[in-house]
Amino acid sequence: MYNSKISGLGYYVPDHVVSNDDLTQLMDTSDEWIQERTGIQERRWVKPGSGETTSSMGVKAAKIAIERAGIDKNEIDFIVFATLSPDYYFPGPGVTVQKELGIKTVGALDVRNQCSGFVYGLSVADQFIKTGMYKHVLVIGSELHSHGLDKTTRGRGVSVIFGDGAGAAVLSRTEDTTKGILSTHLHSEGEHAEELSLIAPGMGKRWVTDILADNSEQDESYYPYMNGQFVFKNAVVRFSEVIMEGLNKNELTPQDIDMLIPHQANLRIAQFIQKKFKLSDDQVYNNIQKYGNTTAASIPIALTEAWEKGKIKEGDTVVLAAFGSGFTWGSAIIKW
Ligand code: UT7
Repeated sequence: MYNSKISGLGYYVPDHVVSNDDLTQLMDTSDEWIQERTGIQERRWVKPGSGETTSSMGVKAAKIAIERAGIDKNEIDFIVFATLSPDYYFPGPGVTVQKELGIKTVGALDVRNQCSGFVYGLSVADQFIKTGMYKHVLVIGSELHSHGLDKTTRGRGVSVIFGDGAGAAVLSRTEDTTKGILSTHLHSEGEHAEELSLIAPGMGKRWVTDILADNSEQDESYYPYMNGQFVFKNAVVRFSEVIMEGLNKNELTPQDIDMLIPHQANLRIAQFIQKKFKLSDDQVYNNIQKYGNTTAASIPIALTEAWEKGKIKEGDTVVLAAFGSGFTWGSAIIKW
């Protein structure tokens, strides 16, 4: 058996900064409301007409991660791409990344687990490496939310939260089984699938012909829906459970955590977890203030930033944890 370790990290966010005050030009909201409820001060949205896509941002993050891993792109054995905002309904962006990077015909898998997509993707990559099947797996989380949000007052409960961006990690084989990804823990509860969902253009509820025939501006099914308070209540419980599950599995306690990178859903959720586990500010990394909630991209962006700032050092215990639509949630315990 081998372990997998993160050998390279990268992220990319569009230049275009959208402040809370900018949003007040589009809808009835305020900087005060957004900061108080979410902690968000600004987010990045791709400039309309820039041609930026979920896969193009993913490619930019991936190039940095591959370079930092010190490998040639042709050493990548497999691609895992997590997103809820693919360029096309199908095929998923994994194959676009394969093409854009000019990587030989390696497999490309698309993961549809929304906010926990990166942790799910990391877990899949980890299993492939642990069993010896692959040596280097590229895992990307990328989202282009801004094209799909309802930017009117009707959609303000959702649209002020989400931002665009991408993060990537290269996972590489190591023979030192005391290092790297120690364990991953994945869960779901499909009973609550519709509490945070985008119904159209799924084929489950209506046929495309019906949707086209309706052709109604009042049709909200093309916009994401979130039962915010219900999601919040579930998030704080599941985050806590899945972090503890990972720590227990590795005979660790919250005080052993050197760096917790929670999915950047809401600063209040991260602060609740920090308080519950009695963690200091140095033990938790948040950047939702600058980027909003970038769903599958939020953990790899935050992880890369924390690493770039020297907040993660060799030998550190790093915990990743996510919760979101599905509901799905998960954690990863990493010895750096
Ligand atoms: O990443 C995936 C996981 N996602 C999460 O974990 C998110 C979890 N949920 C949340 O973060 C919070 O529920 C939100 C930030 C989404 C919303 O905060 P809230 O404190 O739960 O607000 P609410 O939805 O209960 O709305 C409170 C009030 C409502 O007005 P009334 O009915 O009290 O008059 C809303 O209409 O705030 C109003 N409101 C807004 N006002 C100004 C909702 N959105 C806005 C807005 N600006 N953007």
